[in-house]
Amino acid sequence: MAKARLSFSCTNCGYATPKWVGCCPGCSEWNSFAEQQQPQGPTAFFGGKSSGAVVQSANLFSLTQISSETQPRMLSNIKEWDRVLGGGVLPGSFIILTGDPGIGKSTLLLQVADAIATDHSVLYFSSEESLEQVKGRAERLGVSSPKLLFSDEACLETILATALQAKPALVILDSIQNCHLSLQSHVIPGTVAQLREAAFHLMRFAKENNIAVLITGHITKEGEMAGPKVLEHMVDAAFYLQAEDRWHTRILRSVKNRFGTINEVGFFEMHENGLIEVTNINQQFLSEASSTAGSALVCCLEGTRPLLLELQALVVESKYGVPQRVVTGLDHKRVVLIAAILEKYLHIRFSAHDIFFKVSGGFKIKESSTDLGIALALLSSYFQQALPMRSVAIGEVSLTGQVKAINQIGTCIKEVEKFGLERVLMSKSQQVKTTCQLLTFKNIYELLELFPS
Ligand code: TYD
Ligand code: MG
Repeated sequence: MAKARLSFSCTNCGYATPKWVGCCPGCSEWNSFAEQQQPQGPTAFFGGKSSGAVVQSANLFSLTQISSETQPRMLSNIKEWDRVLGGGVLPGSFIILTGDPGIGKSTLLLQVADAIATDHSVLYFSSEESLEQVKGRAERLGVSSPKLLFSDEACLETILATALQAKPALVILDSIQNCHLSLQSHVIPGTVAQLREAAFHLMRFAKENNIAVLITGHITKEGEMAGPKVLEHMVDAAFYLQAEDRWHTRILRSVKNRFGTINEVGFFEMHENGLIEVTNINQQFLSEASSTAGSALVCCLEGTRPLLLELQALVVESKYGVPQRVVTGLDHKRVVLIAAILEKYLHIRFSAHDIFFKVSGGFKIKESSTDLGIALALLSSYFQQALPMRSVAIGEVSLTGQVKAINQIGTCIKEVEKFGLERVLMSKSQQVKTTCQLLTFKNIYELLELFPS
């Protein structure tokens, strides 16, 4: 019998070492290392003398021999879901949906399963909740498709054997952390090694049988997928369901997608009869936007979707030695950087002022095309003068104080026109066709023209 050898792996990120360590070199988590056993199986490698195993060579194909036929995706007709997935669930793909407990993962998956089951057969394995609980939720959501079958089985081998026999188009497993491998498995239950093994079996099952597998996973207190990198590497696509400031809004975000764009976002609202998609989120953002001093409207792309967001700045003279910088919805370093650029070139003493900055609606943005909006919101609050009515800022600001053009402005401009906004504030070098009035700037000195007094 093969002799088992010990190793240790981080329960947070999966980092493996031969010896126990207190602080994980991979994710800096303390006391996260747990023991795991690995059998010393026969290692059959090319040229190896000791293994004695016979390794068959793989079949090789030229590009012309490989079929270019693309399979149709499984559409749910929940448009926000289909779009974030890159056009629906691809047959044979392995997908994970993660999010905080109670955020609505099971609700969303049940709605998606029901919608897909109008055309395809779907198996829903609920390893976390009893069938009675699932039924209660299904009744609330009005789920009724006869092609959607449920089981509360939690043993992975049984789940895969059942799915292999039933041959559905889609298998849903809610959740991967709650399912277990049979006793023959050499890995310790609840460890990252088990999660990895379960995910590996599911991935092989999806690829070999051309059956899509959609699993849910928990996230850690830091908001990362439990055993995060391990699973993110193995799946074809990973999605997060997150809550926003506005208590009932949920954002579905793609963080990895082999068959679509990443950072794609979809919006939903949680109601008593489930998650309802919000296709006109910009309408909501705009209706909440103000046009007072300190406010700047920006348009940025999240995936392929243009979002109209209001940035709000409050610049007040600092009463203490160290000025405060309180930023939500943006990396605070970006706001500090833009304030430093304005201070350097325009000689405005932001370093003697407290800065409070937020993205309205609790949305979090990373796009550098919001630089110009950040600069304008800061200046607008500092001078206590509002920006031109119904205007949108789109542009980057360089460290040398230049206002730079951005890529893909066309999509943003279309959205700006669609909502009847009248002015676009942007770089002089930006090429764009629009019916909006253009206010262009070469560098940040020219921004002062907007604040005449
Ligand atoms: P759930 O889908 O169980 O979350 P997760 O699977 O991510 O843990 O959602 C549970 C929450 O959603 C719970 O607080 C109740 C709420 N909810 C509604 O508000 N309306 C509904 O129709 C449903 C089904 C759930
Ligand atoms: Mg759940």
